[in-house]
Amino acid sequence: DPIALVDRFGRRHDSLRISITDRCNIRCFYCMPEHDAAFLPRSGVLTFEEIERLAGLMVHRCGVRDIRITGGEPLVRRDCVELTAMLAQIEGLEDLSMTTNGMLLREHAADLRAAGLQRLNISLDTLDEATFAKITRRPGVDRVIEGIDAAIEAGFESIKLNALAIRGISESELVGLVRFAIGRGVTLRFIEFMPLDSDRAWQSADVLSGDACLRLLSEAFGEVTPTGRQNQSAPAETFHLACDGREGTIGIIRSVTQPFCGDCNRLRLTADGGLRNCLFAQNETPLRDAMRSGCDDDALIQKLQQCVGEKRAAHGIDSDNFRPPDRPMHAIGG
Ligand code: GTP
Ligand code: 5AD
Ligand code: SF4
Repeated sequence: DPIALVDRFGRRHDSLRISITDRCNIRCFYCMPEHDAAFLPRSGVLTFEEIERLAGLMVHRCGVRDIRITGGEPLVRRDCVELTAMLAQIEGLEDLSMTTNGMLLREHAADLRAAGLQRLNISLDTLDEATFAKITRRPGVDRVIEGIDAAIEAGFESIKLNALAIRGISESELVGLVRFAIGRGVTLRFIEFMPLDSDRAWQSADVLSGDACLRLLSEAFGEVTPTGRQNQSAPAETFHLACDGREGTIGIIRSVTQPFCGDCNRLRLTADGGLRNCLFAQNETPLRDAMRSGCDDDALIQKLQQCVGEKRAAHGIDSDNFRPPDRPMHAIGG
């Protein structure tokens, strides 16, 4: 019988997000600094064998059912396709997915699908090259679009596009992004900007709320019909709308204005082997050095349980004593 990872509030943790690198090939302002990002030394990063051991343990012994590979940008890690194949072979794993910025997808999409990757989420905040450069501090929106098309061609079970909703930037992008996504038959989700930027410049006024997004969408497309969540722990609420005579699904992730912490089922493993019970956790349970000094499986499971046992009820972004996590998004894993 699995040793379920249940916390003090009864939340069962059956979803694991594994950051396989803290490095990235672009520099989105909502995640990374423009210059001098601090990256882990190579020796500090978990090896494929270490990742496989922890993932296998959590699936086989602790009831984890789905794994999402994240970064930094996961596709900048050498041999990321082989690592994906290793994880896909874990017996009992029900769902393997990845979140990527799409810059290297044109090269890797078909191989990732063949390796057993089931679902793909791709960041796309704008279709405009100048806005892309402003957000990511790099050129390349065309590459991302080619990557998205390569992914569609590769036949994943699901492809979703993630667009950050940032006041002053996103208002003019929403409608074009929806047209683009529905035209290609993929789901687009708007994500409220959260205080995870390494510049620590986030202010609540910078969040374009889910409500504001919905208002702009109904002005442009008419009726926007709520259709619930894919499952209880899904961060996105989904909606149907019609665009150029075609029905499509869009999603809204209201992490700031309507936190969904009460239904959270996620754990995160950082690239250097820290287990985090929340995006906004103040502490991590370090697993790497324990593994490297011969810790056995049962002792590792105890550490997992301890980490889950320390989980707080909610992130409390709106509370007075909110403190952003010590590590920025690229180091936590999206
Ligand atoms: P699926 O629903 O399985 O497709 O994936 P996902 O939406 O969980 O994954 P993705 O990496 O695409 O994350 C999209 C956004 O959801 C992130 O940018 C976050 O804003 C939000 N998100 C993901 N995990 C968490 C979490 O643990 N807590 C909160 N508050 N938000 C999260
Ligand atoms: N707030 C909300 N979402 C963010 N992401 C990165 N930084 C932030 C932030 N500060 C998103 C990326 C990617 C996902 C993994 O996390 O756009 O789609
Ligand atoms: Fe890179 Fe993703 Fe962070 Fe953007 S959000 S800088 S793509 S890791």
